[in-house]
Amino acid sequence: MEPISTRVIAVDPLQPSLKTLEEAASILRDSGLVAIPTETVYGLAANALDAKAVRRIYEAKGRPSNNPLIVHVSSISQAREFVSNWPAMAQKLAEVFWPGPLTMVLEHNGTLPKAVTTGGDSVALRLPAHPVARSLIQVANLPLAAPSANASGCISPTCATHVVKDLQGKVEMILDAGNCEVGIESTVVDVRTEQVKVLRPGIISSRMLEDVLGCKVLQDGQAGSGAMPSPGMLEKHYAPRTVAIWVEENPASILQGMKDKGLAVGMLALDKTPGAICLGTDPTTYAKNLYGALHTLDDMGLDRILVMAPPDTSEWAAVRDRLKRATVRL
Ligand code: TXA
Ligand code: MG
Repeated sequence: MEPISTRVIAVDPLQPSLKTLEEAASILRDSGLVAIPTETVYGLAANALDAKAVRRIYEAKGRPSNNPLIVHVSSISQAREFVSNWPAMAQKLAEVFWPGPLTMVLEHNGTLPKAVTTGGDSVALRLPAHPVARSLIQVANLPLAAPSANASGCISPTCATHVVKDLQGKVEMILDAGNCEVGIESTVVDVRTEQVKVLRPGIISSRMLEDVLGCKVLQDGQAGSGAMPSPGMLEKHYAPRTVAIWVEENPASILQGMKDKGLAVGMLALDKTPGAICLGTDPTTYAKNLYGALHTLDDMGLDRILVMAPPDTSEWAAVRDRLKRATVRL
């Protein structure tokens, strides 16, 4: 497709101007694409009711057409417009975690175009907390289909510059509200059956879900029917272009071995390590800065990126999940 002109507009993250929101809304009504900040990562938004606009999302990202999209809404009642069944558990989770980084997979009622659901029986719904995303949904008065605003398979964007790298010339507008607060994508849960299943771990952990539901949740990358289960769970995803390697131990000797071979090597670490980007030992802060660090390392033209494995504990589950998909084993 011919490149189109992309406008990058700075917007106040807490009090976005109505004029900017109306401009973005008008693009969305005309089947256009607007990259928007959310509290997790930037999203590539289109009117979810407009099949033509939704198809443009797949084209812009190079996304496989069988990978369904999350529909973003601004209220529980708007979410319920698209489902045939709103289980008590969905209500419970929505009351506690919405607006916020939780996506719920429910049975759809056929209102949304197939381009969104990719022909399966379910739809993924999320009510984002970011004021810009929420206000835009309200001002446009439209549900917004929005995957992460990156080229398919690549690292998700946590600032407008990341979006520009992948999508300049492919979207009409990018709303720049600075860095995303959470930094990794929402937790995706399937709430269609009695036992809730986590399809993609996120900052809302299994323990937090269990505390609210009062029962165990399943971990399941294989759940779902019809369309691909949850293709974000594909083995390789969220990956830098540079070969990134998962390292459990002896980082210093691995690093030295590679340098001895004349390779340019970067490193992502938790603790202060010479020559490494250090993201610290707090999982929330680590998650917030993770994709920024991967983008930075990826832009350095290195031969290899070494990624030190965070601890194998539940509080690190979401970060470990993303890092494992971004890396290969030695
Ligand atoms: O935080 C987020 O979720 C961000 C922001 C922009 O909201 N969005 C995001 O979208 O990460 P995306 O498309 O990059 O990832 C959505 C994931 C994919 O793994 C997709 O396969 C899965 O959700 N998904 C979407 N609809 C689904 C469905 N009906 N059933 C199962 N999985 C679904
Ligand atoms: Mg994505």
